[in-house]
Amino acid sequence: MHNYKIHPWKIIQNGWDPDKVMESESIFSIGNGSMGQRANFEEDFSGKTHQGSYVAGVYYPDKTKVGWWKNGYPKYFAKVINAPSWIGISVLIDEIPIDLNKVYKVEMLERILDMKNGLYERSISFKTKDNLKVEINSKRFISLKRKSIGAISYNIKCNRDVNITASPYIDYDISNEDSNWDEKFWETKEKINTQNRSLVKSSVKKTDFNVITFMKADLYDNNVKLENPFIAKSNSKKILLESKYSLKKGHTLKVVKFGGYVNSICNDWNKIENKTNEVLKLLENMSFESLYLEHKHEWSKIWGKSDVKIKGDIKSQQAIRFNIFQLNQTYRGDNPNLNFGPKGFTGEKYGGSTYWDTEAYCVPFCLGTKPQEVTLNLLNYRYNQLDKAIDNAKILGFKNGAALFPMVTMNGEECHNEWEITFEEIHRNNAIAYAIFNYTRYTGDSKYLNNKGLEVLVGICRFWAQRVSYSNKKKKYVILGVTGPNEYENNVNNNWYTNYSTKWCLEFAVDTISIMKKDNPESFEKLFKKLNLKESELDYWLKISKNIYLNENKDLGVFVQQDGFFDKELSEVEKLDYSDRPLNQNWSWDRILRSPYIKQADVLQGIYFFEDKFDIKSIRSNYEFYEKFTVHESSLSPCIHSIVACKLGKTESAYYLFKRASRLDLDDYNKEVNEGLHITSMAGSWLAIVEGFAGMRIKNNSLHFTPSLPKKWEELMFKITFRQNIYTIKINKGLFQCSLNINKNFYIYVNSKKLKFDRNGKASVSI
Ligand code: BGC
Repeated sequence: MHNYKIHPWKIIQNGWDPDKVMESESIFSIGNGSMGQRANFEEDFSGKTHQGSYVAGVYYPDKTKVGWWKNGYPKYFAKVINAPSWIGISVLIDEIPIDLNKVYKVEMLERILDMKNGLYERSISFKTKDNLKVEINSKRFISLKRKSIGAISYNIKCNRDVNITASPYIDYDISNEDSNWDEKFWETKEKINTQNRSLVKSSVKKTDFNVITFMKADLYDNNVKLENPFIAKSNSKKILLESKYSLKKGHTLKVVKFGGYVNSICNDWNKIENKTNEVLKLLENMSFESLYLEHKHEWSKIWGKSDVKIKGDIKSQQAIRFNIFQLNQTYRGDNPNLNFGPKGFTGEKYGGSTYWDTEAYCVPFCLGTKPQEVTLNLLNYRYNQLDKAIDNAKILGFKNGAALFPMVTMNGEECHNEWEITFEEIHRNNAIAYAIFNYTRYTGDSKYLNNKGLEVLVGICRFWAQRVSYSNKKKKYVILGVTGPNEYENNVNNNWYTNYSTKWCLEFAVDTISIMKKDNPESFEKLFKKLNLKESELDYWLKISKNIYLNENKDLGVFVQQDGFFDKELSEVEKLDYSDRPLNQNWSWDRILRSPYIKQADVLQGIYFFEDKFDIKSIRSNYEFYEKFTVHESSLSPCIHSIVACKLGKTESAYYLFKRASRLDLDDYNKEVNEGLHITSMAGSWLAIVEGFAGMRIKNNSLHFTPSLPKKWEELMFKITFRQNIYTIKINKGLFQCSLNINKNFYIYVNSKKLKFDRNGKASVSI
């Protein structure tokens, strides 16, 4: 494990460990929602690395590879592709390439991620055998203000006169590590490389996404700009701008490099090229510093709406900012074709695609920290893919407009291909329904629900109406052959979470339609006609919801995760040997399936979503029982348990789980940070603070809080966007304070007590 220094706004790493480069590449990743990259070195590196630079929404349909083909498998897995890389600067000193894997002695390496300003900085000093000492400092950011632009300021200093060859380049010979058939996904169409214009035009095979990767570079000696320093060159992998320079002892040679991608959804080369020309023109009048200033300003706006301050616990402070920072680097909310990939731009695993993580975790984060249009874009993303969800269900034999949203998708088509997940982890449909409910409850805006949401809900309900079976033995509707959120069980019957969330979803749809019928008969008629909906369908949905099988172990007072759970040897997680963890890296799959160990919140995910439906006794017994068997080997798990623990007044257990959620990557709990960060679960850390320790809920159009801080925390402060207003909440041991950005006659509730804001927009109460 790397030890990052604890700092409220920075991630700082000191020391050189060539075997841990990939971990650091993930942690120090940067992005701006439109593109992003791992923190690869600019100069050459022959050690273990994962070169990764990604363009949002650009994917390759990689032909499915499975051992045994199952009917219904999608033909391809859409993969976010590793794009041509614009960050490279190859450096030779006295003809010897700099390669940290080969230099004689690395004396110092420091990486700093400044989260306040969105800047990644790296400093190194190393010695060669003949006592040449080289110092490098590089700063890098990807502009939040200008979607296509990233910038690097790369400085080299030596302790004697040297001849340096410094060549900024674009590497277009790129492949994905996770390519199924070792294919290259890109086709290079054209390379242009002159002193002032260096670009590579590439198209993604099959999907024809067109992308221009560009760069522009300048060279400075002790801050004096050198005139025409470069000769444009190219080889079969790179275009480069080569400069040979005699650098005096103690002088600093600085390469300022701008680069990035221009792409267009409409795939029109002329348009993309014109846009690239505009970007290059703009860069003639901008410096690293001026771009950085406006970038910093954008970050200050984000923090102004979403910062969380924790007094008394810098480790948690650092962690929550890291989580908020990475979420904002991944998704900006201005494009309904984009979404949160579980690994964002920090790795290839999970294909960069959309999962139920968005609706279950990221939607509430966006609701609380962004204008409501951002969440609307996420909802529209699914609405726009409804036809494909209907096609997806059709392929599996469903009819009459039944919709099954994909487990993993880039464009609405399913691209996951493990039968137990693709065909069976169907609870994802209900998270999409829940997000529609959540948005409506949070914003008070029912336009989406009535115009588009209901269409989605009807598709989902039609799916359930066909997916359930009636058990004559149980006299109940059952759902057979599913995988619940806990992926350490496959192909089970009556997963409680799936059954319960289906019951809820059917009821929610029928209730919404009944309200529409009463309040807005015209829209009701229109909807019925458009969807060819029948009253008898609604009756059937209600019948299912009232008679769905929900198994309970009455002796223990717990819901049964799935049929047969209690046949297992119920040995608790506590008894597991540390060397067995994580189980998925150490145990055979069948052993995992037979074990009682739960990968992630399952019954408790349901209790979390629908807590109002359960009494506190039942919440307590379910939490106490299931926490004992949960290994939290999905990043999505500890945050949910933490929120439920807070609800039960188990604040210190909640705190332990919160740390695990929020520092999952920084402390590499699941031993996989080298593959990339867990972006979507970072939203869960935020939820653990806001819904957990502050106990925030939306009830009857108002904000409610039941605060309880961990012992270590002296004070918690955060901002919440609620119905267009920004609430600043401050909680310390004895006092709850809230201030509002406008003077309005609003109320909030703290521990069920109604609080009115005073004339200055402030409200407070002892707690
Ligand atoms: C989890 C899923 C999740 C996926 C992507 C898996 O490990 O079990 O629930 O959707 O990761 O984050």
